[in-house]
Amino acid sequence: MFHSTCLCTDCENELRPKLLELFAGIGGATVAFQNFVDVIAAIDINDNAKSVYQTNFSHPYLTLSIESLSASRLQAFNADIWWMSPPCQPFTRRGLRRDDRDPRSAALKNLIDILDIAGPATLMLENVVGFQKSKMHRRLITKLTSCDYHIHEYLLCPTDFGIPNNRPRYYLLASKTPVKKLNFKNPEPKHLVDFLDTKVDERFWIERELLGGKINGLNVVTPKSDSSICFTSSYGRWMRISGSFIQCGERIRRFTPREILRILGFPEAFKLPTSLTDSQLWKLIGNSISVFVVQRLLSPYVGSEFLRPSSK
Ligand SMILES: C[S@@+](CC[C@H](N)C(=O)[O-])C[C@H]1O[C@@H](n2cnc3c(N)ncnc32)[C@H](O)[C@@H]1O
Repeated sequence: MFHSTCLCTDCENELRPKLLELFAGIGGATVAFQNFVDVIAAIDINDNAKSVYQTNFSHPYLTLSIESLSASRLQAFNADIWWMSPPCQPFTRRGLRRDDRDPRSAALKNLIDILDIAGPATLMLENVVGFQKSKMHRRLITKLTSCDYHIHEYLLCPTDFGIPNNRPRYYLLASKTPVKKLNFKNPEPKHLVDFLDTKVDERFWIERELLGGKINGLNVVTPKSDSSICFTSSYGRWMRISGSFIQCGERIRRFTPREILRILGFPEAFKLPTSLTDSQLWKLIGNSISVFVVQRLLSPYVGSEFLRPSSK
């Protein structure tokens, strides 16, 4: 179980900022932030995600719909930072890009509406590429600007940091304190072999005969590859576009949930409950975030005004 006590000598005596993880899923932001903040609570509506989170963390996990949260309830958390990864379907082709007309945007709308009353010192948001062209984005930026937040926006991909996975995402950092725009250097690419399990159960392997002609439509990588396609929540249900397959020698298999977690930057100590099936885990993990990228986004701010508790 991870605890929020920081062992880092630089900040052990400092008051740590308080984080509220909204749309928390399995807790990617808790994992990414845990050495710098105290997590007050995580909020989501998904019971399977809650079960993964609670296998790893002791912070409160509230299963409630964010569109029902009032300003006073949010204020009561007294959070310095809100992290949020709202549902991305309203901004994807598969989700029909219904944007602010999609009922799945209602929770984000609610948060935007009450930002002027309940907004934290720092707000961070992650979403799919495409969000930055949406009406919901315009609505959010308009509100943040009117509430005097300083805003930085990034389109970043794990491959920008040498991680062999294509998962481009939009990131927003909004803070009441001005912060410098970050510049990232491209490091040497890593290869998938560094992220693979040494022993893989037979259930993940796929007989070539079963694939038949479908193999041509699959994204098949090898341990030496320095990229793979985005693992989505449909991995395990859909063969194509939902994530790469890996060819080891003559055989082909899916990536295991543990391997995908590793590619996203979750530590080995992160546990997966045995009560959940592979399909349930693929779905939850496919919805999560690149811990690698979020930690790179945070690293320049550690100890800075941006991550300090507000004086409210
Ligand atoms: C893109 S996923 C975020 C996953 C998370 N960042 C993680 O690390 O696993 C969006 C999450 O929002 C949750 N969600 C969708 N609608 C919600 C609502 N109205 N209130 C609370 N959570 C909601 C979903 O259950 C899902 O876990």
